[in-house]
Amino acid sequence: MGGKRIGELMTGAAAAGADRWLAGAAWVDGRYCPIEEAKISVLDLGVTRSDCTYDVAHVWRGRFYRLDDHLDRFSASMARLRLDPGHDRAKIEAIVHGCVRHAGLREAYVSMTCTRGRTAAGSRDLRTARNTFYCYAIPFVWISTPDQQAGGASLWVSTVTRIPPQSVDPAVKNYHWLDLDMALLDAYDHDAQLVVLRDLTGAITEGPGFNVFAFVNGRWLTPAAGTLGGITRLSVIELAAEAGQPVEQGLLTADDLRRADEVLVTSTAGGIIPVTVIDGRPVGTGMPGRLTAQLRDRYWARHQDPQYSTPVRYNEQD
Ligand SMILES: Cc1ncc(COP(=O)(O)O)c(C=O)c1O
Repeated sequence: MGGKRIGELMTGAAAAGADRWLAGAAWVDGRYCPIEEAKISVLDLGVTRSDCTYDVAHVWRGRFYRLDDHLDRFSASMARLRLDPGHDRAKIEAIVHGCVRHAGLREAYVSMTCTRGRTAAGSRDLRTARNTFYCYAIPFVWISTPDQQAGGASLWVSTVTRIPPQSVDPAVKNYHWLDLDMALLDAYDHDAQLVVLRDLTGAITEGPGFNVFAFVNGRWLTPAAGTLGGITRLSVIELAAEAGQPVEQGLLTADDLRRADEVLVTSTAGGIIPVTVIDGRPVGTGMPGRLTAQLRDRYWARHQDPQYSTPVRYNEQD
């Protein structure tokens, strides 16, 4: 992991002040604050209706990974939902950097959200709502910790159906997580760490915070539709091609997962995660696979590559 954070290098009163920022920093209502002080209105339609979109980027060893791709996806999602964050892209980018800088984090989970906001008292006309933008940076979050990844994660194929894309477009990153959350609770009941959901036809879609790939019949197979266009998913598609591992975007079934040589899931929160147990049974040899290990090494190496990463602006003032 990275070196000491800004607050850890201070002493006395300065350190006490900086301590408030160590758990993370947010930008809400036009100003930065320690994460525990960040609040939004209970009347915000993002809270009462999940009427919002968000994106999550990450910082590794002081560098953002593919920040432009995250900002592109966030802009496209806001446009789809007719949300206006009230700031241009350069300002949003500056705020994202500012949150990491205020928290002094070298490894960070960086979330940006645009909500519908509030309508005037008594009105239900969404068009009159003033949209709200907020952002925060907290210490890096893992959906599967490095220790868990060393042995591989366990995955449960849920009987909960994923919300149909015709109702809520999964390509727009959203907070409609009740299907994902209920499926995850179901997985915990079956001693699994992760869960994947199927669509109405029975095809595999995605899980809470990740996309899924199976190496079956000599190629990586990942769902072509019905999922978020994950930035880590995109990385795997590119890295596999570079490594000479064929990839197909198509129809993935639960049977494919169960008979695959290797299975992996991809997320900003944890990278490329080997899956070694599905529904209580081993995947392939039951150990993290060789191809997955190659992709993981290449993925983390890319975090220092200027083509895919940009340094955090730690020295700017605001
Ligand atoms: C539903 C869903 N699918 C997939 C992903 C993975 O996307 P990314 O690799 O961009 O983190 C996420 C990320 O949070 C997600 O929420």
